[in-house]
Amino acid sequence: METGFIDVDAVDKIIDRWKYDPSYLIEMLQDIQGHFRYIPKEVAQKLSDDLDVPLSHIFHIATFYKGFSLEPRGKHPIYVCTGTACHVKGGGRILENVMRELGVTKEGEATEDLFFSVESVRCLGCCGLAPVVEIDDEVYGHTSTVEVSKILSKMRKAEQPE
Ligand code: FES
Repeated sequence: METGFIDVDAVDKIIDRWKYDPSYLIEMLQDIQGHFRYIPKEVAQKLSDDLDVPLSHIFHIATFYKGFSLEPRGKHPIYVCTGTACHVKGGGRILENVMRELGVTKEGEATEDLFFSVESVRCLGCCGLAPVVEIDDEVYGHTSTVEVSKILSKMRKAEQPE
C-alpha cells in the first residue's frame, strides 16, 4: 500500500526484517536510505511510532551519519573528496564546478530530475590518488574538473532514451 509518496509496505518489511528491535535502528535507517535514497520525514515518524523511539533521536542519527540524508538523493550520488590531500590538489574546485554544472546550490541537493546529487566527503581513504571523486561506488583518482564533467555527461547520455 502506498500512502502519498511513501511505500508503507516497504517500510513495514524493513522494520519487520529487524524484528521491531530499536537496537537495530541504524540498520533500519540504512535499509530505508537504500530503498528511498533518503529518509523521508513520514518514514522517520512511522519508525518513531512503531518502535516507540523519540523522533528527535531518529533525526539525530539521520543527521549525524553522512550516509543518511533527509533530502532525496539523486539516482547517482557524487561524492567529491575535500579532505586535506584532495583539497590541496583542487578537490574544492572540483566540488564547486560540479555544483555549478548541475545547478545545485547546496551540498546534498539533487538535480531537479533526481539524476545526480553531490556532496563533499572528508576522506575516501585513497589519498595517494588525490583528487578523488566517487560516483556510483566507483572511485575516480587523479581526476580534474574537466574529467569529472566528461564522466557526468557520458552518464547522462548513456541513460537517455534513443
Ligand atoms: S583526502 Fe581525499 S582520499 Fe583522503
